[in-house]
Amino acid sequence: MRPSAGRGRGNGEYSVKPVKVGICGLGTVGGGTFNVLKRNADEISRRAGRGIEVAQIAARRPNPKVDTGSTPITADIFEVASNPDIDIVIELIGGYTLARDLVLKAIENGKHVITANKALIAVHGNELFAKAREKGVIIAFEAAVAGGIPVIKAIREGLAGNQINWLAGIINGTGNFILSEMREKGRTFEDVLQEAQALGYAEADPTFDVEGIDAAHKLTILASIAFGIPLQFDKAYTEGITRLTTADVNYAEALGYRIKHLGVARRTAAGIELRVHPTLIPADRLIANVNGVMNAVMVNGDAVGSTLYYGAGAGMEPTASAVVADVVDVVRALTTDPHNRVPHLAFQPDSLSDHPILPIAECESAYYLRIQAKDLPGVLAQVASILSDRGINIESIMQKEAEEQDGLVPMILVTHRVQEARIDDAITALEALEGVSGDVVRIRVEQLN
Ligand code: HSE
Repeated sequence: MRPSAGRGRGNGEYSVKPVKVGICGLGTVGGGTFNVLKRNADEISRRAGRGIEVAQIAARRPNPKVDTGSTPITADIFEVASNPDIDIVIELIGGYTLARDLVLKAIENGKHVITANKALIAVHGNELFAKAREKGVIIAFEAAVAGGIPVIKAIREGLAGNQINWLAGIINGTGNFILSEMREKGRTFEDVLQEAQALGYAEADPTFDVEGIDAAHKLTILASIAFGIPLQFDKAYTEGITRLTTADVNYAEALGYRIKHLGVARRTAAGIELRVHPTLIPADRLIANVNGVMNAVMVNGDAVGSTLYYGAGAGMEPTASAVVADVVDVVRALTTDPHNRVPHLAFQPDSLSDHPILPIAECESAYYLRIQAKDLPGVLAQVASILSDRGINIESIMQKEAEEQDGLVPMILVTHRVQEARIDDAITALEALEGVSGDVVRIRVEQLN
């Protein structure tokens, strides 16, 4: 019988010896992981069925938010990967290169690995999983996508009975924070980005956040788990939020939409759409109302319909929550049938499909177009005929008064769904019109229904 709540056996009171973990990196996530493991040690051990001991930490400098007590600390991450006492290496240093070397070393030495590193998994995951299978060790990476939200577990295990049709997510907290603050408070892009950096949400290189690279890493992982395909980060279409203007945010609002930086993965007969870009979403969808640093992922399965997972996508303890859940999973797996583990990408490795990732020109979406027209007769008719000649159906159109400073008339259109190649062609023709000034702004629209 398990001990009753509140009187649980503490760390070390189990008959089997505690599992020893080594934490590499004591920054935001590493510090949070240490603190959560320490604070909740009793409950975590009751869940895992074994005590869990942090046997070593690798850190270049102390973290003022962490009291590491007598835990041994080294500056050399590879010492942790080679420490014969350690069963599980937790990689929280980030980046692609050193992290890959560390994880390969840990696997080589027969250690299980837990990582929060989305770049590492998206870019080197196929190689690392193959090595882990060879050596019979686990790689767990729940914290790599959407921080504290257990979305990998939800798709890989909870939705295992479904054919996943599509998923769409706000999976970069920094970008969402910037868009929310710009919309709600009229703050500038740079000002909000600086705050996200100070709060520890932004990547070491913040262009990863604002150019959509971080979201594309996460989307790549989600798509593989949803559709059973190898990780193919290099084929993801990635567009950031740096070119969004307040004018588009306001026009979208007037049309009943919100602009969100969305990662979309959709299964079609021709292949898989894998794309990250600013997107208009109807304002009454729950996901359109996810603000600040919060993340949310919608997953649509053929049996379950649409589901939504919401929570903190970054930060010290929310991300630690996912890392520690992986620790518990690995510890449980160590005591059960080692051949009956959940596969890394949800599907058995020899059953991954080669369904192609589609180039963006072959993806399908609805579009918001903003055209700066000269105040002349006949321009609207020309615009309409360019679109209709290419089979592009207009859903709504809004024409504003000429702007005082340049006399140009903003013309805003929302189209029905159409293949991107046709819109590319239409934009080229629109920009060549005598009555159109400058570039046409294009933002994709998703109804998510
Ligand atoms: N920079 C990331 C974000 C951190 O803002 O969402 C979590 O992956």
